[in-house]
Amino acid sequence: MILVGVCGGIAAYKTCELVRTLVRAEHDVQVVQTPDSQRFVGPTTFAALSRRPVLADGGPEVFPHLDASSHADLLCIAPLSATTLSRIAHGEAANVLTATALAFSGPIVAAPAMNPRMWEAEATAENLRLLAARGVELVGPAHGDTAEGEVGVGRMSEPAEIAAAVEARLSTAGSLAGTRVLVTAGGTREPIDAVRYVGNRSSGRMGVAVADEASRRGADVTLILAAASAAPSAPMRILRAESAAELERATLEETAAADVIVMAAAVSDYRPADAFAGKRPKSGEPWHVTLEPTTDILKEVGARRTAGQVLVGFAAEHGPGGVERARAKLERKSLDMIVMNDVSRTDIGFDSTENELVLVTARDERTVSRRSKRACAAALWDAVPAPTAATPAPRGE
Ligand code: CTP
Repeated sequence: MILVGVCGGIAAYKTCELVRTLVRAEHDVQVVQTPDSQRFVGPTTFAALSRRPVLADGGPEVFPHLDASSHADLLCIAPLSATTLSRIAHGEAANVLTATALAFSGPIVAAPAMNPRMWEAEATAENLRLLAARGVELVGPAHGDTAEGEVGVGRMSEPAEIAAAVEARLSTAGSLAGTRVLVTAGGTREPIDAVRYVGNRSSGRMGVAVADEASRRGADVTLILAAASAAPSAPMRILRAESAAELERATLEETAAADVIVMAAAVSDYRPADAFAGKRPKSGEPWHVTLEPTTDILKEVGARRTAGQVLVGFAAEHGPGGVERARAKLERKSLDMIVMNDVSRTDIGFDSTENELVLVTARDERTVSRRSKRACAAALWDAVPAPTAATPAPRGE
């Protein structure tokens, strides 16, 4: 059963369509309304669409929040208002919806809707961080016109998009439960002196999306994060690594305790051989920096892998022949899968929120057409082979 929580906001009219879509897909839907939401859409409408009475404050049930939360597979809150966001973030049981959310231990998908200035507020950001740390998955909000005539981010996502997120969460929830996943993400920085470095254009978004998705699927995730403009939103253990050497140390320490390792970090292949101690003063003369190769971490991990461990690499390829080059890396580095993306394209990849991937294994290759990095991460996990029963060493904490 899916619980659909409705808060007060004009977007509640779109929740009628969401309920209809979920009922059409043969889900049992139980609508839970806050008192405020009933000023926008009455319980009779939701009762008719969901084919069962709505749960609301003042109803005949004695423990509606406990009954609802113990029988549900997922709670979808749409629209999620700023008030309910704050209440849930702080564990309030102010009405039947917030009490249900507090008592519910399953997956929560929420579609916020509010004025763009309220969405931008630091208080909202802090509340969202609290929810994210507990694994609540957000859909939207989208950019566009709001009911009050402003333009910005704050519109509730469309019902079809919310329904798709609910379906995806239901079908994959727990699919990686008990699996220990290690992900590296971001780009390394190799110091030239105390303030300058050799770096690369990786934003870390793709790797962070891979870690987030694994966590949403129930994995126990460790993320080793180099320089990145993206931050994870799902619960996980995060270790920071700045340079290729630090990433190498952290990765090799964590490898033995992982069932699946995804190396999405953009590791510098070279580093300055003699980093200048302190800040090198400017002079009119040219500055020659000698670069020396770094360790190929993925190859090292491949050489040490234990039976049953799954190893996935990334290949940033430029232009034609990329799949062939990626396949050669798959073999050279003893991988189960390599994820190829074409970095010569400007519409996807580095600074984009979207990507297009080719998932290459020894047997085949599968194109994941252009989509959000989050959707790419979901496609990646759908394709990653399950680790076999062999048991890697326990994690030494
Ligand atoms: N990688 C790594 N250590 C390095 C360089 C790369 O672990 N020093 C990993 C990356 O995290 C990625 C994969 O290797 O998963 C592919 O990286 P890429 O730079 O594309 O491949 P290379 O083998 O370095 O080949 P080339 O640069 O010649 O294309």
